[in-house]
Amino acid sequence: MGALNKVVVLGAGNIGGSLAQRLAEMGIAREVTLIDIVEGLPQGKALDIQESAPILGFSTRVTGTNSLEGLRGADVVVETAGLARKPGMSRSDLLEKNAAIVKSHAEAVRAHAPNAIAVVVTNPVDVMTYYFRRASGMPSARVFGESGTLDTARFRWFVADALGVAPRDVTGFVLGTHGDTMVPLLSLTSVSGVPLTKLLPAERLAAIVERTKKGGGEIVDLLKTGSAFYAPSASQAELVRAIANDEHRLLPASAYLDGAFGAKDVYIGVPIVLGRAGVERVVEVDVSAGERAAFEASVAAVKADLAILAKLPP
Ligand code: LAC
Repeated sequence: MGALNKVVVLGAGNIGGSLAQRLAEMGIAREVTLIDIVEGLPQGKALDIQESAPILGFSTRVTGTNSLEGLRGADVVVETAGLARKPGMSRSDLLEKNAAIVKSHAEAVRAHAPNAIAVVVTNPVDVMTYYFRRASGMPSARVFGESGTLDTARFRWFVADALGVAPRDVTGFVLGTHGDTMVPLLSLTSVSGVPLTKLLPAERLAAIVERTKKGGGEIVDLLKTGSAFYAPSASQAELVRAIANDEHRLLPASAYLDGAFGAKDVYIGVPIVLGRAGVERVVEVDVSAGERAAFEASVAAVKADLAILAKLPP
């Protein structure tokens, strides 16, 4: 049985359900609990996953509830709840609505699972992670956001497909926010140590970088009624495993910066070391002047959203 007692997934939508399934199948926790406000949804998905246990052989208990008291005893909480933008909604509408959800969940985590590690994936993720930490009062080492593992997974797949090599042999790294201003670091990517720049011509690489930046949107355009969830949930499960097994993984994630990379009081994607205690450290790497400028633009985009939130009533 796994290293964790309990993982709670807030939000039983496509991402939450898929993540609960992955976590149960990985067997890294004694219990996985789905929480959602929609009656029957977390209970139904949990029961459906649980009924696969005899076939798949896992012993994890999978439960679903509409009550935030289900957070009790959580070692790790993954915040997936929130709305996606609908026609006619402005970006600040989404910010405001998701901030209200994230705030109430952060307060519930503080009340019921104050020692948990929180992984925030609600969009816009860097802004929502900042907001979650503030509302929970939890130390920044125990609150971080996930998007870098997803963004690099997309990048790695596109490279693997272009080269006809095993996807797991491709490494990748992105800095900055989850969105158009993310900064893929080509100097830090390789195929089993062979620099990517020696394997693909610059214009092919540039096209892959562009496709990566718009990777989420490409799936939304195809699905028409929702956003990606298979690769996102795989990314989140990878982070929960790094925590469960105290793996000290060096990964891109949205971490709190207090001076690192020249940024202060912001959550944004940077290299971190992740283990059982959460974010052990932020790893500063030398980047080119162009990458630094792109990162600064990314920080400015996140801060603009934070300024919108700061004007909302508490
Ligand atoms: C994406 C969403 C989940 O990138 O942010 O697919």
